[in-house]
Amino acid sequence: MKTVEWRGKPVWIIHRSPEQLAGLKTQDPLLADPQSKRPGFTPKYAENEGRSRKPELFVCVGICTHLGCSPTSHFEKGGSLGADWQGGFLCPCHGSTFDLAGRVYKNKPAPDNLEVPPYQYLTDTRIIVGVDEDNKA
Ligand code: FES
Repeated sequence: MKTVEWRGKPVWIIHRSPEQLAGLKTQDPLLADPQSKRPGFTPKYAENEGRSRKPELFVCVGICTHLGCSPTSHFEKGGSLGADWQGGFLCPCHGSTFDLAGRVYKNKPAPDNLEVPPYQYLTDTRIIVGVDEDNKA
């Protein structure tokens, strides 16, 4: 996981393994907004299961949508977060959990999925954060 900054916010860039991507498919019934249909947190090109332009690379703002704390990564399956846990993020402030696509679990304080910032690919292996088709700045 790499962290860069966009508009003063931490942005995480995470490479997801095939196993982690397969784990995403099992989480939909447990999530508050699995298809990211709530407005404001997901660009159109990331309105998919992985919330990303390409499945293997996930980009999100590392700030909880509850009160703005910084979630911590918990990429290991299972453990103290339960047998269904496929890896993701825990916000220690009030216990919100997010999967590896930043999708918030049901019945948590955080009202929305983690924000996906504008970004685009410059080459197959390089991205730029803060710029996309709708935001040329
Ligand atoms: S700030 Fe993250 S759960 Fe409250």
